[in-house]
Amino acid sequence: MKKIITYGTFDLLHWGHILLLQRAKNLGDYLIVALSTDEFNLVKQKVSFFNYEKRKLMLDAIQYVDEVIPEFNWEQKALDIQNNQVDILVMGDDWKGQFDYLKPHCEVMYLERTKGISSTIIKKRAFQER
Ligand code: CTP
Repeated sequence: MKKIITYGTFDLLHWGHILLLQRAKNLGDYLIVALSTDEFNLVKQKVSFFNYEKRKLMLDAIQYVDEVIPEFNWEQKALDIQNNQVDILVMGDDWKGQFDYLKPHCEVMYLERTKGISSTIIKKRAFQER
């Protein structure tokens, strides 16, 4: 069983997220999403529109996602990889190079982001159109 893990906030779920999750799942058999808690979002200077519980509810409903665990801090990745026997860490290429230090623990892959969509873009457009 090949296990994949990915990290993120996944606020205002959009097709860029779905395509990332689809491609991540297709790399193996079991996809874990480590979802940033509301508290950790503040550390990342993000305020999500939907809270953790609602973001998790939506991720759990996606066919490519097998498990959602909380992401509390920057430092937990190596432990998550060990505890869950993860084979591949997948991130969008906006993070290119930043998680290469985990290569002793698992394979690290950066997938191309889908162009023209992000949670930030949705927030900006929704605000403008009011
Ligand atoms: N992602 C992607 N394509 C997009 C947007 C996001 O592949 N157009 C990926 C990111 O690279 C990341 C994951 O989806 O691996 C979760 O990204 P997240 O930061 O939660 O979403 P964004 O839409 O980028 O949010 P924000 O605008 O707040 O940065």
